[in-house]
Amino acid sequence: MLRFAVFASGEGTNLQAIMDAVKEGVIQAQLALVFSDRHNARALKRAEAAGIKTLCLERKDYATPQSYDRHIIIYLKEEKIDFIVLAGYMRILTPFFVKEYHQNILNIHPSLLPAFKGTQAIKDTFTYGCKAAGVTVHFADEKMDHGPIILQEAFKVSEKDTLESLEERIHQIEHKLYPKAVSLFVEGRLKIRGRKVHILEKSAGKGPSAVESAVSQCKDGRDIPNNP
Ligand code: GRF
Repeated sequence: MLRFAVFASGEGTNLQAIMDAVKEGVIQAQLALVFSDRHNARALKRAEAAGIKTLCLERKDYATPQSYDRHIIIYLKEEKIDFIVLAGYMRILTPFFVKEYHQNILNIHPSLLPAFKGTQAIKDTFTYGCKAAGVTVHFADEKMDHGPIILQEAFKVSEKDTLESLEERIHQIEHKLYPKAVSLFVEGRLKIRGRKVHILEKSAGKGPSAVESAVSQCKDGRDIPNNP
């Protein structure tokens, strides 16, 4: 079974949705570690309550972003972490980190990327007067809110929406979309070609599984699956 870590800096409602999905068997992987850069993150409390191992390292205790990320990776390797799920992690990963877990880092962003990157996406969507809003789950790369898109879900913004109601609607979508994307990844059904992520059909139980056929394609040197 694949082992993964969730990185979170705040409330941890997405972490909660992922923990629930693991518990229900929707995500068939082991959530081995919850990491935070903030000691007071509610996400850490949620993980502790669920009996999941936690780790908190604060950036101020390290000389450079690189040395910070290097130390995080030491712990991830110790825990044999295969992939990482960013869930409201408020730090930008260094290129070193991204290279180490190349195509094995997922992120969620509360807008329809490439619109409204950054930390104020919901507010920016609202104040811009958008008629549609939504959520994006994507692979993380060296640039912020940029990597290949896995899933997106859009909805209409109503005249009655306030910033608070928009936030609420976006979070509701996040909590179903993120577990779904993580589960597709775990099943080996996401195949990256350039900027595009192809979603493989679920294996019907006959013939090679999606993972097996992806791996055999890889051996042929044609297509490269993104995860082990
Ligand atoms: C979410 O809106 C997510 O899209 C963004 O940060 C927020 C985290 O919320 N990256 P929570 O900590 O999961 O409640």
